[in-house]
Amino acid sequence: MTTPPPTLAMVDDTAGVLAHGGGELLTDAELARAGAYRREVDRADYVAAHVLVRRCVAALLDVPAGDVVLRQRCAGCGATDHGRPYVQDRPEVHVSLSHTRGAVAAAAGWAPVGVDVEAIGRQLDDGLMAKVLSDGELEAVRNAGDPRAAFIRQWVRKEALIKVGAASLGRLRDTDLSGLPAHVPAGTPERARFDPWHVLDWLDPAHRYGFAAVSTHQTRLVTPA
Ligand SMILES: CC(C)(COP(=O)(O)OP(=O)(O)OC[C@H]1O[C@@H](n2cnc3c(N)ncnc32)[C@H](O)[C@@H]1OP(=O)(O)O)[C@@H](O)C(=O)NCCC(=O)NCCS
Repeated sequence: MTTPPPTLAMVDDTAGVLAHGGGELLTDAELARAGAYRREVDRADYVAAHVLVRRCVAALLDVPAGDVVLRQRCAGCGATDHGRPYVQDRPEVHVSLSHTRGAVAAAAGWAPVGVDVEAIGRQLDDGLMAKVLSDGELEAVRNAGDPRAAFIRQWVRKEALIKVGAASLGRLRDTDLSGLPAHVPAGTPERARFDPWHVLDWLDPAHRYGFAAVSTHQTRLVTPA
């Protein structure tokens, strides 16, 4: 049996992505969304994520990033300026993207994929934790050597699962990931399974943000071109 081709994922600082340009590749709908951000830093994160997802697709298909047209559609309201992203004219390609303050992530592959990146905040929000973690997860986070990193670990996994339709925002406690490792060493991608999903975890070496990708194929973390 042949191994399915991996899903490709990229994570980087917003500034690192934008240093290579690419903002001009965004569609009018994306530029309008970007322009609606009041804060320059949020706009930069949005643009960088939408550039990075084009780089992922370009790497997957071996085409120039300029050939990739990203579209979105919201299943809730039908609008085409937000919601699940997809690649125009390439329905067989699956994509996902995420932005947080100062960092962005994206993925492209031949199988469903969801990614999330989240900055590790300065303090834990007990109310949020109780809302989104199962009892087992909550206990593991509280007992972890680094509870903030342990919380972000579960949070990005759950958000990535939302993006593939395997979890729901209002019922995150029901998605119990306490069987997955609580500790992920900084700078080393770690793999786990939450059937049928392959989970890839990553914590940046400077310990500023956590990242997770879930896909039915293995995910390969590649350096942004
Ligand atoms: C999907 C969701 C959990 C991600 O939110 P988040 O973690 O705060 O933000 P992230 O930066 O990690 O991810 C945002 C990206 O997820 C993608 N996304 C949005 N909805 C998505 C969906 N249903 N499925 C997969 N991906 C989705 C978009 O590309 C979005 O990027 P953009 O805002 O730059 O276009 C959040 O958007 C959500 O809960 N959406 C459902 C509610 C909704 O659709 N509200 C609008 C109704 S009109």
